[in-house]
Amino acid sequence: MSYLLGIDVGTSGSKALLVEEGGAVRASAVAHYPLATPRPLWSEQNPDDWWRATIRSIGEVLSESGVAASEIAGIGLTGQMHGLVLLDAGGAVLRPCIMWNDQRTGPQCASITAQVGAERILELTGNPVLPGFTAPKIAWVRENEPDVYRRAAKALLPKDYLRYRLTGDFYTEVSDASGTSLLDVAARKWSDEMLAAFHISPDWMPEVTESPEVSARVHAEAARLTGLREGTPVVGGAGDQAAQAVGTGIVEPGVVSVTLGTSGVVFAASNEYRVEPEGRLHAFCHAVPGQWHLMGVMLSAAGSFRWYRDTLGGLELDRSRREGRDPYDLLTEAAAAIPAGCEGLLFLPYLSGERTPYPDPRARGVFVGLTLRHTRAHLTRAVLEGVTYGLRDSLELVRGLGLKTGEVRASGGGAKSPFWLQLLADNFHSEIVTVGCEEGAAYGAALLAGVGADVYSDVPSACRSVLKLTGRTEPGEAGPVYDAYYPHYRALYPALAAHFAAVADTGEKFGR
Ligand code: XUL
Repeated sequence: MSYLLGIDVGTSGSKALLVEEGGAVRASAVAHYPLATPRPLWSEQNPDDWWRATIRSIGEVLSESGVAASEIAGIGLTGQMHGLVLLDAGGAVLRPCIMWNDQRTGPQCASITAQVGAERILELTGNPVLPGFTAPKIAWVRENEPDVYRRAAKALLPKDYLRYRLTGDFYTEVSDASGTSLLDVAARKWSDEMLAAFHISPDWMPEVTESPEVSARVHAEAARLTGLREGTPVVGGAGDQAAQAVGTGIVEPGVVSVTLGTSGVVFAASNEYRVEPEGRLHAFCHAVPGQWHLMGVMLSAAGSFRWYRDTLGGLELDRSRREGRDPYDLLTEAAAAIPAGCEGLLFLPYLSGERTPYPDPRARGVFVGLTLRHTRAHLTRAVLEGVTYGLRDSLELVRGLGLKTGEVRASGGGAKSPFWLQLLADNFHSEIVTVGCEEGAAYGAALLAGVGADVYSDVPSACRSVLKLTGRTEPGEAGPVYDAYYPHYRALYPALAAHFAAVADTGEKFGR
C-alpha cells in the first residue's frame, strides 16, 4: 500500500495528513504557531515557525501511524495564500511574512491601479489589486523598508517557502500564484507587464508549474530533520481554497462549493477562463490543469455566528454547560421555531468588513427592522439568514457569468448544522450535498500528490475514487420568502456604505 502526505501551512498551525491510496485518513497532526499584529491592520508570521511546526507535525504522523517513510509515494503542499516571504541571495528570510489578512497596503494598491489602470489590471490578471494580495506587499517593502528590499533576491508564497526548506528548490504553482497580482491567469504564467509595473525582477519569482506536477524532491537535510525519505517527490500543490475544492470534489463545471468556516467561500470550477466584469469574484487558475475557478470570499460567515454565541448567547452557553449540549444546537433549535424571514428582521454580516461582493474594510454589521415583537431567537435566525444572503451574493455573481450551479457542496463547521443546510438549500434553490471529508485543504493536497505519483490518473478521477456523498438537503418551501427579502438585503449595503465609513472614522477618533 502506498501513502500520500498533505501538508497545510495554515494561519494557526501546520497540519500534516497521511492518507492511504484508497482515500482513508491514516493519521493527522497539527502544530501551532503565533500570529503577530505589530500595528493595527498588520498581520505577520515567522516563516521559520512554519518550518519547525511542520517538522513536528510530520514527525507525529509518522510515529502515530507507524508508516515507513519509504511507503510515502508523494507529498502535496498547501497553505494560506497571498503571503509575502522575502529571502536574500543565500536563502535567509529577510523579514516576517506579511500575511493574507494584512491590510497595510491600501496606498500601494491605489497607486498601482492609478498607474496601470483598473481595466488593464483586470485584463492582465483577472482580478483587481487587493490589499491582501502579494505584489502590493512588495511595493510596501520597497517604500518602507529599503534596506530589506535592496537585499531581497526571492519572493515566495508561504507553502512555496516550505517547499524550499523541504527540497532546496524554488517553485510555485498556478493556483496560489493567481493571488499575487503578478500572474497572467489566462495564460498561467507570470505577467511581464505586471512585474515591470511593480519593479519586480523576474529572477525574484519562482518557476510556475501545474498543481499535480512533481516539481522537486525532499533533500538530504530535510529528510534527516523530518524522518521523510530523501528523494520523495513533492508536487506543486495548491493555495488553500483550490486544495479544499479538490478535497471536496469541486473539479468539474456545474458543481459549486460553499464553505462555512470563520469566513465563507463560494467556489465554482470552470473549463474556460472567465472574469466577472467588475472584478467582484476572484478569477484564479484551478489546481486542475486546464481549469480555472471563480471565488467569492465573505469575511464573517460562521464567524458571525460565533460572535453572536459569545456576545448574546450567554443563556445557551450556561445551559450547554449544565446539560452537556452544544450551545450552537441550542441556539439553532430556538431559531428553527421562528418563521423564515424573521418577521421582517434582516442582519448584515459585515463584522470584519467585507471582501465579496463589497471589498470594503469599513463595512459593518447591522440589524435592520427590529420591533418590540422580536425575541432573541429572531436575532439568532436573522444572523444565520444574513450570512446565507451574503453567500447568495457570491453565488448570484457566479450564476450571472452563465456558470451552472446544479449541485452545491457544503463544508466547514457550519455545514454540520442541518438547520443551516436547509437555509442554504431554500435560499439558493439548489440541492445541498455534503461529502464526508473534514480534513479540508490538506486532503486535497494529498490527492494532488497522488496524481503526481501516478497513484491516480488525474485530479477528477482521484476525487471520484475517494469521495463519498454523505448527505443531501432538498430545497423546501421557504424559498419564495427569502426571494422576497433578498432584494432588500442587497439594497442595504449601497444605502449604508457612506455611513459605515463615517461611523468607523468616528469610532477610531473616540475609541481607545
Ligand atoms: C483566499 C484567502 C484565504 C487565505 C487564508 O483568497 O485569502 O483562504 O488563503 O486561508
